[in-house]
Amino acid sequence: MTTELTVGRAGSAWSALGDLSAFLLDPGRYLTSLAARGDLVEIGFGSWTGYVACHPELTQRILLDDRTFAKGGPLLDKARDIVGNSLITSPRHVHRRQRRLLQPAFHRDHIPRYAAVMTDQAAAVSDSWRDRGNVDVVAEMNAISANVTLRTLFSRRVDEAVVQALVGEIKKFSEGLFLSMVLPAALDRLPVPRLRGFRTARERLRTFTARVVADYRADPSAPQDMLSLLLAARDEGIGVEDSEVIDHVISFIVAGVETTANTLAWALHLVAIHPEVERRLHAEVDDVLTGRPARYPDVANLPLTRCVITETSGSTRRPGW
Ligand code: HEM
Repeated sequence: MTTELTVGRAGSAWSALGDLSAFLLDPGRYLTSLAARGDLVEIGFGSWTGYVACHPELTQRILLDDRTFAKGGPLLDKARDIVGNSLITSPRHVHRRQRRLLQPAFHRDHIPRYAAVMTDQAAAVSDSWRDRGNVDVVAEMNAISANVTLRTLFSRRVDEAVVQALVGEIKKFSEGLFLSMVLPAALDRLPVPRLRGFRTARERLRTFTARVVADYRADPSAPQDMLSLLLAARDEGIGVEDSEVIDHVISFIVAGVETTANTLAWALHLVAIHPEVERRLHAEVDDVLTGRPARYPDVANLPLTRCVITETSGSTRRPGW
């Protein structure tokens, strides 16, 4: 640690109620506001106390040192109830086995096939902008990201109507996920629209995934995609139970859709407010792609584009990955 960090506190006995209601009304805004109170901020609602790291050095340290900052605690327990036992939620000893099982689905040999889906989606969405005025960038990036995730996971179940319906469910799921995670289980059934939408979306996503898993099991000969690789995965000769496959699929949706969409939307925003970078980015893309959509082999020839994405998302890579 090089920087001097400050420790702050949110919510005295008096303001704890105000903090709780601000948090429930708009968790994102509440958590973002904490940075003004310190680099590490203690928050307390009733008997519950938590700490929020608001400084990049702290978050980096927490993310890179998973022995000291082992995953656990009430938030993780709740997340496990919601998204099941997957890489995001599993304890260290389960996590190792799961990583070994899932690694083959992310082998570099498969990336060109996934990238082809990304090329198609990016082209379809950006083509649709030609005759439109303003577009809602966050919504458009979510559409690309959700489409790519679903189509790489289930290449056999990609008819347009199904994907559109699932994109809607993913949106409702993401909107209620955080609130549902932080509420105590006793309040899970609160009649709040965001929570109701979340519960329905979660059920629909799980039911759909279970149906697709059953279809794939019934016909294992069909072409490879991420789901077929997950179903074929073996660790020391032992495969993956269907219920665990469903947990992994849901976790990829949770971990992959909004993160990617937000990174893309922020990248576009940052490029728009840095005209010199925008000019150089256009020059690179025009030079390499000459008007056609980017394909996987192009990535190596687009260093500035790669820098824009890397700088936007921050360096979250762990050593040795
Ligand atoms: C730009 C987009 C993304 C960002 C910024 C991002 C960020 C992160 C971060 C910071 C972690 C570490 C969390 C921790 O250690 O507690 C993580 C883990 C994870 N991400 Fe992403 N992610 C992105 C895209 C994706 C996508 C597309 C997928 C789905 C295929 C995904 C699946 C996962 C999974 C499964 C983990 C847990 C890995 C493990 O613990 O072994 N992420 N992500």
